Amino acid sequence: MPTSRNLENRRVVLAARPLGIPQADHFALETTSVPELGDGQILVRNRYLSVDPAMRGWVNAVANYAPPVPVGDVMRSFAAGEVIASTSDLFTPGDLVSGMFGWQRYAVVEAATARAVSDRDLPLSTALGVLGVNGVTAYWGLLGVGHPKAGDTVVVSTAAGAVGSVVGQIARLKGCHVVGIAGGAAKVRQCLDVFGFDAALDYKAGDFSVALDAACPQGVDLYFDNTSGAISDAVVSRLALRARVVICGTASVAAWEPWPVGPRVERHLLVKRARIEGFLLFDWMDRYDEAVRDLAAWVRGGQLQYREHVLRGFEQAPDAIAMLYRGENQGKLLIEID
Ligand SMILES: NC(=O)c1ccc[n+]([C@@H]2O[C@H](COP(=O)([O-])OP(=O)(O)OC[C@H]3O[C@@H](n4cnc5c(N)ncnc54)[C@H](OP(=O)(O)O)[C@@H]3O)[C@@H](O)[C@H]2O)c1
Repeated sequence: MPTSRNLENRRVVLAARPLGIPQADHFALETTSVPELGDGQILVRNRYLSVDPAMRGWVNAVANYAPPVPVGDVMRSFAAGEVIASTSDLFTPGDLVSGMFGWQRYAVVEAATARAVSDRDLPLSTALGVLGVNGVTAYWGLLGVGHPKAGDTVVVSTAAGAVGSVVGQIARLKGCHVVGIAGGAAKVRQCLDVFGFDAALDYKAGDFSVALDAACPQGVDLYFDNTSGAISDAVVSRLALRARVVICGTASVAAWEPWPVGPRVERHLLVKRARIEGFLLFDWMDRYDEAVRDLAAWVRGGQLQYREHVLRGFEQAPDAIAMLYRGENQGKLLIEID
């Protein structure tokens, strides 16, 4: 039986439950021992920890698709690393894996919950971003729910981010006219120069509404909504006939208590016979590999560009989610702990 005894585990735990966006003082670093492996388990040495906007929802005590992380527990997160011990037939030491391993150095998990990283010619970090949750969300949210058609005007918010940048590039590959919305001039330039969008708009600039009209003269056929809030209010009022709106994220909403209110959208939907549908990656897990296969081929072929923003060391973790909500990340936000 492989043993994990004598291994020292560094981990980041939830120290206090936040209201809204978790800040650095809601987390604490601690050192513990690593539990022994039970049957069918693997011991993973994490190399990259993921930082995702959804983690805000995982620590707040509001209704969500998963129960909140208990105070004192290791912070729930995706991570990628190497199997160093296994009591399962599924993996052997040396395999690279990704999964819900948490913000910690070592994770003991059920082998069946881990995903093999098979694209070993590409950096392991991509298994958390462009070939991981973000890329697969972009792929199925756009193609499975949004159904883009060549010639459509597709608008995407958080356009320079991990999900948004992939959404826009896939839409371009499908022959759409792509308009990205991002915060600040540098991200707008990145959307145009790196990701090749047709237009990119700074929602923080005073002329946003005018710029949106100019970029979408025929209206918006497909809106991939990562923000909710004022950005989405502006886009939904410009929908084209039979438009589709994919609700993927709510990055602009700081807290759900009190419940935010905004303009009513029903009239726009009725007049334009438009459709709004929520997307959750967990509903598409059985088609995860299909997406990764196409995404990896596009990355290798140079049709899909990605950017990563890598923080180094556990000490960076407590402030990392707040950093996302301050818009300070330039690409997929990761913590490297090697
Ligand atoms: N439904 C699903 O299954 C699923 C899965 C994965 C991700 N998502 C969602 O996809 C979205 C993007 O996630 P990601 O991982 O790719 O993150 P990301 O876009 O790389 O980073 C988050 C970005 O949100 C933007 N943001 C923060 N506060 C904002 C505000 N008040 N108003 C407008 N934008 C704001 C910032 O970009 P700017 O600097 O441009 O403002 C920030 O860089 C998130 O909403 C996330 O929850 C959903």
